[in-house]
Amino acid sequence: MTLTNERNLSDALPGALPRHVAIIMDGNGRWAARRHLPRVAGHRQGVEAVRVIVRAAGELGIEYLTLYGFSSENWKRPAEEVSDLMGLLRLFIRRDLAELHQNGVQVRVIGDRDHLDLDIVALIDEAEALTRNNDRLKLQIAFNYGGQNEIAAAMRRIAREVKAGRLDPEAITPELVSGFLDTAGIPDPDLIIRTSGEKRLSNFLIWQGAYAELVFSDALWPDFTPERLREAVAEYCGRSRRFGGLDATGPAGQS
Ligand code: IPE
Ligand code: IPE
Ligand code: MG
Repeated sequence: MTLTNERNLSDALPGALPRHVAIIMDGNGRWAARRHLPRVAGHRQGVEAVRVIVRAAGELGIEYLTLYGFSSENWKRPAEEVSDLMGLLRLFIRRDLAELHQNGVQVRVIGDRDHLDLDIVALIDEAEALTRNNDRLKLQIAFNYGGQNEIAAAMRRIAREVKAGRLDPEAITPELVSGFLDTAGIPDPDLIIRTSGEKRLSNFLIWQGAYAELVFSDALWPDFTPERLREAVAEYCGRSRRFGGLDATGPAGQS
């Protein structure tokens, strides 16, 4: 795996960097199949790519990185694969937490924790508590995450507030709804990247991504390198974001 140095990664990008990059890390299974390996081998290699890309995102100067690790629909997979993916999250937190913390990475996990094993919930709590005050790179891991579930859960909480007389229905604005999502306090993603050539969101950040720029990479996730991340960011930098208005503020600039 090639690792470029900091200067190469951050040099000469034309225009404003995305503050928040979110990645749908797809293609682990196909990476393994091409090598006649079991799918879990692709997921393991996918974790290696996570390590490299987290570092590269920090070097590029990205503030927020959100990685889609397990969707609320991924429970449909064979039990053995689900258990392998749970095991890899455990391993990732156990093995990488200290280093992430040393490097100033703040870790937050978004998604439904209620149906995760208790030891995993404990690890997630530990990771979040240890890194709470870090601010070099904010890393969100979407695990047992689905945008529709997230929005439904937010609606339940909002409805309870209304029912209890603490919230006027007229006060329900997009900003208020955002504050009830798992991503409360995190700016919306500027750039969503999906690897492996698939062109869909698969229930990822469907509220928050309303005005995200989408970049699709043909690389399978285990093959996604810092150079490819830089290419995706460069493509973003060349885009003109209008947010429904007419004034293009230049490449990817927000007014
Ligand atoms: C992405 O790789 C990882 C998860 C969805 C957990 P896949 O496992 O979806 O790989 P493909 O799409 O089958 O190649
Ligand atoms: C999306 O990938 C979920 C993650 C990357 C964690 P999938 O492989 O599950 O998506 P579909 O099923 O192809 O839409
Ligand atoms: Mg897939």
